[in-house]
Amino acid sequence: MDKIRRASVTVPTADAMRALGERIGRELRPGDFFGLTGGLGAGKTVLVQGICQGCGIDSRQVLSPTFTIVASHQGRFTVHHADFYRLGDPDELYATGFDDLVNSESAVLVEWVDQVPEALPPEHVRVHIEGCGDAERRVDFSFTGGRFAGRFTWMQPGDASDDVPALRAQSGEAEK
Ligand SMILES: Nc1ncnc2c1ncn2[C@@H]1O[C@H](COP(=O)(O)OP(=O)(O)O)[C@@H](O)[C@H]1O
Ligand SMILES: [Mg+2]
Repeated sequence: MDKIRRASVTVPTADAMRALGERIGRELRPGDFFGLTGGLGAGKTVLVQGICQGCGIDSRQVLSPTFTIVASHQGRFTVHHADFYRLGDPDELYATGFDDLVNSESAVLVEWVDQVPEALPPEHVRVHIEGCGDAERRVDFSFTGGRFAGRFTWMQPGDASDDVPALRAQSGEAEK
């Protein structure tokens, strides 16, 4: 069984969400898969825009791909941005050829991954954003798989059940 490492970040503004994404994007590697969840307007697309920016993509071209299901961008490597919001069932997803996009040459960022959780490869990062409107957001990460060992360790260890103030500077690895 793969160990899951959790981390949690409090994000006060949309700009801070973008900055968080950018920092993640600088560390992003081909083969990484991020599955995002959280309500409408939580900030999934803003976070994805930041990640893409950090990966060398002009984030102005990163829009909500709701109607196309997947949009592909070229940065340091290819980043596929998908949105499963309107997907009815897994077959509809596989009909788009999504399976072929999940490979070691490109990264995949999926909004509304819970619509088709089967799409998550064995090693992946789940990102859940809590909060809406102008309120601050709480972003919970869970890293599954050895490929994430020693990476993103600047994030504060924790999960939604911890009520510690976030954005503590120092961090480490917490195995749960
Ligand atoms: N702390 C915050 N983090 C992220 N977005 C925020 C924050 N505060 C306000 N917002 C706003 O919330 C909206 C999030 O929209 P979006 O990223 O499209 O959500 P989603 O893709 O989850 O539906 C944006 O208009 C953004 O400016
Ligand atoms: Mg979105």
